[in-house]
Amino acid sequence: MIQELIVITKNSTGVPHLAPMGVHVHGDEIHILPFRPSTTLTNLLETKLAVLNYCNDVRIFAGCLTGRRNWTLNGLVLNSALAHSEVELVRVEEDEIRPKLICKILNTVNHAPFMGFNRAQYSVLEAAILVSRLKMLPLEKIDSEIAYLKIGLDKTAGERELEAWMWLMEAIETFKMENSK
Ligand SMILES: Cc1cc2nc3c(=O)[nH]c(=O)nc-3n(C[C@H](O)[C@H](O)[C@H](O)COP(=O)(O)O)c2cc1C
Repeated sequence: MIQELIVITKNSTGVPHLAPMGVHVHGDEIHILPFRPSTTLTNLLETKLAVLNYCNDVRIFAGCLTGRRNWTLNGLVLNSALAHSEVELVRVEEDEIRPKLICKILNTVNHAPFMGFNRAQYSVLEAAILVSRLKMLPLEKIDSEIAYLKIGLDKTAGERELEAWMWLMEAIETFKMENSK
């Protein structure tokens, strides 16, 4: 199963780095698969540690992809995380494009209850993935998927989801303008 999380690492001087990642869960073994080049990859190889933040504030997913990475942290834990797990790197399966970082969960802490699913949050996550692939996907595919995702967004979003959606739509518009010249 793949879970969409905020992976937070730090470099050797302690500077934190946030990245949305789809991590593969195999019991208490976690596989993180960063595409090269990746700060998450560099940091994990250097420090061997990461914190997986389980978080339903989708502004953080959209924010990381649109240059808004300044979210309040306590160590490597987001203030808005519902829970977090500390993981340790145990093995690397090398790959030129996308190495596999095999990690072991050291501990998990709950902070707040899970309050149920929300369709607008799904829409924002999917739109964030589209934004991360703008250079790889045809624009017609982006436009048709956004039109579909907007249905669930319009019906069920709260303020956080609307703000995150707006940042992503701005990023798509900017990309289109820069690539139509
Ligand atoms: C929901 C979601 C899941 C993502 N999963 C991955 C992933 O598994 N691997 C990856 O390299 N990038 C993934 N991305 C894109 C990264 O978050 C983004 O490219 C980021 O900058 C990674 O590079 P970094 O480690 O240098 O920050 C994902 C983005 C989103 C929104």
